[in-house]
Amino acid sequence: MREMFLTIEGIDGCGKSTQAQKLMQKLLKEGKSVVLTKEPGGTALGEYIRNLLLNKDMEPVTEFLLFAADRKEHIEKIIKPYLWQGIIVISDRFLDSSVAYQGYGRGVKNDFITCVHNFITEGLKPDITFIIDIAPEVGLKRLKRFDRIENGGIALLAKVREGYLEIAREEKRFVVIKGEGNEEEIFFNIWDEFLKRRKLWEREQRAL
Ligand code: TYD
Repeated sequence: MREMFLTIEGIDGCGKSTQAQKLMQKLLKEGKSVVLTKEPGGTALGEYIRNLLLNKDMEPVTEFLLFAADRKEHIEKIIKPYLWQGIIVISDRFLDSSVAYQGYGRGVKNDFITCVHNFITEGLKPDITFIIDIAPEVGLKRLKRFDRIENGGIALLAKVREGYLEIAREEKRFVVIKGEGNEEEIFFNIWDEFLKRRKLWEREQRAL
C-alpha cells in the first residue's frame, strides 16, 4: 500500500524547512517510517540543476523547465519508490512552488505549467499541502543570504504569496497555516490538521 505524500510550501523565509523537520521528528516518534526530501535538489542530478537555477539568470520559461526537470528526477528516484515501500514522504517544496513562483511570480502561463506537471507526475499529487503564510517583509527580514530568486525581493514574494493563497482556495488538499507566531504554535496547528486528515485518509484507503 502506498503511504501519504505531504508537501510544505511558502515564500522564502516562511520557516517551512523548520516545520518540515519537526513534522518528520514527530512522525518518527509516533513509530512511522518517514523521509524528508526537498526541491530543488533532492537527487544528485537535482543538485547540479539547483546550482544553475540559483546562480544563472534565465528566462522564466527556462527556469520553470529546469525546475520541472529536477522534479521529474525527484519523483521517479525518490518520491514514488519510498511511497510504494510504505514510507511517508515529506517534500519541502513541490509542484505548487512552480505554480506560485514561475506562474504567479514570473508570468509563465498556468496552462503550460499544468500541462508539463500532468505529464511528469502521471497523476501523483500530494495528499496534504501545508502552506506556511507570512508577509513578504517578514520573510525577507529572516533571510541571511539571498539567492538569485530571492533577489526578486518584496515585489516578487508578494505575487508568490498571492499565488499560494489563490491556489489554496481551489483544492481540498491545501491547508494554510499562519506562519508569524512562534515555532511551537505553528507546529501545533500543522499536527492538529495532520491528525484530522490522516484519519480520513486511512478510512479512504480501507475503502479502496
Ligand atoms: P533553496 O535555497 O533550495 O530552498 P528554500 O529557499 O526553499 O529553503 O531555494 C529554492 C528557491 O527556488 C526558492 O527561492 C524558491 C525557488 N523555487 C522556485 O522558484 N520554483 C520551484 O519550483 C521551486 C521548487 C523552488
